[in-house]
Amino acid sequence: MNYKIPRGTYDIMPKDSARWQHVIDTFRLVAQRFGYEEITTPIFELAGLFERSSGESSDVVQKEMYRFADQKGRTFALRPEGTAGVVRAYVEKSLDRLGGRSKYYYIGPMFRYDRPQAGRYRQFYQYGIEFIGSNHPYYDAEVIALEMQFLAELGLKNVSLEINSVGCAQCSLDYDEALRAYYQPHLAELCPDCQNRFEVRPRRLLDCKVSFCQSLRKDAPSQLDYLDQDCKEHFSEVQNYLDQMGVKYRVNPAIVRGLDYYTNTAFELIVDALGAQDSIAGGGRYNGLISQLGGKDTPAVGFAGGFERLLLALELEGIAGYEPVNPTIYVIGIGEETRLMALEYITKLRQDGIYVDYNPDKSSFKAQMKAADASKARYALIIGEDELASKLPTLKDLESSQQRSVDYQQLLDILQ
Ligand code: HAM
Repeated sequence: MNYKIPRGTYDIMPKDSARWQHVIDTFRLVAQRFGYEEITTPIFELAGLFERSSGESSDVVQKEMYRFADQKGRTFALRPEGTAGVVRAYVEKSLDRLGGRSKYYYIGPMFRYDRPQAGRYRQFYQYGIEFIGSNHPYYDAEVIALEMQFLAELGLKNVSLEINSVGCAQCSLDYDEALRAYYQPHLAELCPDCQNRFEVRPRRLLDCKVSFCQSLRKDAPSQLDYLDQDCKEHFSEVQNYLDQMGVKYRVNPAIVRGLDYYTNTAFELIVDALGAQDSIAGGGRYNGLISQLGGKDTPAVGFAGGFERLLLALELEGIAGYEPVNPTIYVIGIGEETRLMALEYITKLRQDGIYVDYNPDKSSFKAQMKAADASKARYALIIGEDELASKLPTLKDLESSQQRSVDYQQLLDILQ
């Protein structure tokens, strides 16, 4: 065949869909329990929205965005993440003017052009949470607790939560200056990306994977030493709430998020066994983003996780896939004349919510019985000459092999 799937993408085949569905359903249930409601935004937006929100210096904007021009020459981009679209919708519907709390969750594909590897795709699926409307540290802890509850319900054990505070805009400026002073003597030896980061976003130097740049990290100044009083208190309150909610965490001042909109709390969930792509979820506070995108100054906090990495992590812990659902009943019609009666039963049962399988390509009784067994249905409904005459089909229990004549109501009662 001449057509291959695009690099960095994959098909979710039916045999894997049950696992995906289980994880998605669990996320929905947990999010709803915490009072979050689903929001769905477009898969593409004006490229400027992402450039403005993720930040010009972020990898996402510099190298990873799928940009395209439409027929009128406007530049759009496939969304690399979900927060910008949610904030755009929030401001566009004037919810910033109403004030109050907005609690959103979303599920959907995101797109980043990066070198594909285990756990890193060009189209990947995120689940996310955005809380908009309060700077209260309780909400930082709430979104984290929600994620921990979701992972616990899936049965995931080997995961650690790392938290940090990147401070407000003013603390960031002070910290950036401290970092520049520290890296200045090594500037010429830094990798080209870091030389650029030095200028535009020095904290991203801490996140570099190049070994020389990494070797400088351990003695670099810590953001936590550059927090002002309010930011220090906020971070300490977040930790108090986490403690009181029984959430275990480690403070790691090296947590630098790859997107530029974060203020104060930043966090990641790490599964060591995943290797290079070990972050299964990440997020934090973004108090400046809503006003930066033209809305009224409104604080917010959220996170997103990647389904692919989560499924890999579950697999590594031997948390098995979920079996596909088998049909409840397989309908067998012996002879052409029984077809009408068979179809009546098939149609009525499906309308009454029963999963029915049927295969008109199989004609002999033997072939149909074999197909019924192969379908793993619990029952077979057999319609032959006698059943046609009495208008009562035969129900066969494929586990016990017992069979009996039934009318429609009796059949439905048994199947339900
Ligand atoms: P992010 O850290 O860029 O944050 O992505 C969140 C998660 O998406 C990562 O932890 C990872 O599990 C998954 N992910 C990211 N890129 C890929 C990829 N190429 N392949 C597979 N999985 C990937 C955000 O996107 C922010 N919007 C999170 C947020 C929400 N912050 C506040 N609110």
